[in-house]
Amino acid sequence: MKRALIFGLIGCAGCIMLALNASGAGGPKPEPPPKATTIAELAERYDSSRCADCHEEIYDEWEESLHARSVLGSPRTAPTIITTIEKGLKLFPYSGVKSDDDITVEHLMLCAKCHLPQLDEATDDVAREIVATIRGWQQAYRDGDDDKAEELEETIESLNIGCMVCHNKIALIHKYADGYPQPDTVYGGQEGDHDDDEYSLMAEAPAIGESIFCGQCHGQGPNFELEHPSQCATAYGSYLFAYVAHGGSESCQECHMYKSELGHNMQSYRDDSMIEMALDVKVESQSLFWRKNKEEGVVPIGVIDVSMYNKSGHAIPDG
Ligand code: HEC
Ligand code: HEC
Ligand code: HEC
Ligand code: HEC
Ligand code: HEC
Repeated sequence: MKRALIFGLIGCAGCIMLALNASGAGGPKPEPPPKATTIAELAERYDSSRCADCHEEIYDEWEESLHARSVLGSPRTAPTIITTIEKGLKLFPYSGVKSDDDITVEHLMLCAKCHLPQLDEATDDVAREIVATIRGWQQAYRDGDDDKAEELEETIESLNIGCMVCHNKIALIHKYADGYPQPDTVYGGQEGDHDDDEYSLMAEAPAIGESIFCGQCHGQGPNFELEHPSQCATAYGSYLFAYVAHGGSESCQECHMYKSELGHNMQSYRDDSMIEMALDVKVESQSLFWRKNKEEGVVPIGVIDVSMYNKSGHAIPDG
């Protein structure tokens, strides 16, 4: 017992040291940027197209991923946001939402916490503009107005988890130790000068190669810090408590970026290489004749034995 306690204490001290020693080139908390007042302004601030000039391959990969359309989704996400408003916010007695005019950033954070974290840099008008745009897009589809539907779909897609969301906004997790992301720096695995005009420095994000980085959005369960906790993705919880706890040692990045060879095109079952990595399926079958009962006599039957082994790092499917 005593020994367990001592080991416990040593373990704990180790954790604290780790946290203190970790270093990145974050800095003091910067002044928050001025609030974006339109979708266009917010999209411009996080526009990834400039990065494509020099990181073309990564850009092309990213563009294929659902991160590049994280509000539109497959496209199931945008309609589900509307369902959240109609069947949730407008029916809850204390949400303060009776019509679309009452919607604020705080309300949309139920989803935007992970689907569009940069929404916290926008005014409530932008929250309402997003809802109006999704409704307009749905209406254009119903009206068969393809041009308008396409135009509005582009506007919805302009809001996404782009390069600077991961490589700046949420790049540093332990801010007391590593500091806050600075407005002129891209965070990755290297330090030094960076050729981009606006982000002229590169610095290290200590956890960007670790599963915890993806865990910021891939969910552990209810989001208790919200006024009204929502729950969507739970893959990170499953990864920690079902995979790592049973000896699993690979990271999200190892499977989804490197072994899959998909890089920034992080995918699931829509991609063949992920399907192959997902399951071992073993099927054994036999046919025989079986005497069932007096009335039906001997009947032919088949016995099929299917065993499936989940090789991924979490429960599937998720969300
Ligand atoms: C904890 C972060 C988080 C929150 C909060 C969250 N989501 Fe998600 N959501 C995800 C992630 C990550 C995925 C994709 C991975 C998965 O399915 O596990 C996803 C997937 C989805 C999908 C399926 C995606 C598709 O393209 O078909 C829909 C629909 C969706 N979310 C809607 C919502 C809505 C609506 C809300 C708000 C009520 C919400 N989510 C809140 C993280 C979140
Ligand atoms: C969802 C989060 C996410 C998004 C979005 C994202 N990255 Fe990354 N990026 C990562 C992670 C994770 C790594 C790998 C870190 C590691 O393994 O150490 C990485 C690595 C990199 C690297 C260094 C490694 C390499 O492959 O050369 C570059 C450069 C990079 N990203 C640029 C970009 C650009 C440009 C975009 C936008 C087109 C982008 N990233 C979008 C998470 C992201
Ligand atoms: C003018 C060219 C240029 C532009 C534009 C540019 N980069 Fe880079 N970036 C580079 C070069 C060169 C490196 C160093 C690459 C190397 O050594 O592998 C780099 C490195 C990086 C790294 C660190 C990679 C690592 O190994 O950890 C990240 C992250 C990154 N860029 C993200 C971005 C993002 C996000 C944008 C858009 C805002 C962007 N870059 C725009 C040229 C550019
Ligand atoms: C800023 C939040 C955020 C971060 C960080 C993030 N993701 Fe995601 N990811 C999402 C959301 C949101 C979706 C779903 C978008 C949609 O379809 O609506 C998603 C989708 C995915 C999907 C596709 C799921 C599907 O149903 O096809 C995979 C795979 C994935 N992410 C893996 C990763 C990995 C691996 C990392 C870390 C390297 C990571 N993500 C980091 C938010 C994030
Ligand atoms: C051992 C390899 C492995 C690890 C580790 C791993 N994944 Fe996966 N993941 C897979 C495979 C294979 C699939 C495809 C199976 C599928 O989509 O049904 C998948 C599917 C997914 C999906 C889609 C789930 C769905 O609805 O089908 C998401 C999201 C995801 N992974 C995110 C993550 C995140 C985030 C981490 C780290 C916390 C992670 N993965 C760790 C192999 C892995």
